[in-house]
Amino acid sequence: MENSGSGGRRGVIVTGGVSGIGGACAGVLAAEGRAVAVWDIDAARAAAAAAELAARHGVRTVGIGIDLCSTDGIAAAVARTRETIGAIGALVHAAGVSSPVPLDDLTPAAWDAVLNVNLRALPFIVQAIRADLAAASDGAVVGIASINATLGNAANPAYTASKGGMLSLVRSLADDLAADGVRINAVSPGQIRTPMLQPVLDILPPGVFERRILLGRLGEPVEIARAVRFLLSADASYITATELVVDGGNISSQRM
Ligand SMILES: NC(=O)c1ccc[n+]([C@@H]2O[C@H](COP(=O)([O-])OP(=O)(O)OC[C@H]3O[C@@H](n4cnc5c(N)ncnc54)[C@H](O)[C@@H]3O)[C@@H](O)[C@H]2O)c1
Repeated sequence: MENSGSGGRRGVIVTGGVSGIGGACAGVLAAEGRAVAVWDIDAARAAAAAAELAARHGVRTVGIGIDLCSTDGIAAAVARTRETIGAIGALVHAAGVSSPVPLDDLTPAAWDAVLNVNLRALPFIVQAIRADLAAASDGAVVGIASINATLGNAANPAYTASKGGMLSLVRSLADDLAADGVRINAVSPGQIRTPMLQPVLDILPPGVFERRILLGRLGEPVEIARAVRFLLSADASYITATELVVDGGNISSQRM
């Protein structure tokens, strides 16, 4: 599904762009005039999200169904993105799964199911669009990590490792991509009200997270998207290889 419209800066690929944080990122980037490619495992919702963004913001969009557990579809998705929205200048990797499995029940398949989408997809997408990013004057990448990269969480070792790995990966790729003038950073959200978090909210007593968070509330997806927009913008021209924590004061909290 592709949708034509006027463009601004080069286009952005947003993985996981139909829901939650990825959906909000696609929205704020389209709102500032960027063409957007919504990549998501849910092809129908990707097409619908892309059509809605095009109608609302008058930018070129495309919705592409892709399962990022595998790297097989990346080259074709990049080709389709170039054909439909034009030059690619940025990537937001927001596709992710949490699928909590504690150590005693962990299997290699459960580990791979989380690591492959949350972490392994990122370097291979960047590899596939490296020349596009280098050709842009403001090429930039943001990976959505998590405060779980820093906080120990027995419920979910694979998720925690995928997010910690993303912080290290960002530093490694930043060293490489800097030669092309391309920046890459991570955003680490705290607890954000999305479909991923909702099952946790449904089983925990009300206010458990809020008590700990200095600002006293959960975050909204658009509050992460604004941080992503900043890191992709010229205002962040001297920022690379870093982690921007957007958690309302969670990992810095000593509240009980
Ligand atoms: N919600 C939070 O509190 C929170 C906190 C920290 C980090 N994060 C991270 O933010 C990112 C977005 O999460 P969210 O909360 O918006 O969740 P979400 O479930 O609303 O969105 C995740 C998106 O990823 C897509 N996706 C899942 N598996 C995929 C696959 N194999 N291939 C392609 N797309 C796939 C889903 O279809 C969905 O659209 C994730 O990386 C998550 O780990 C979320």
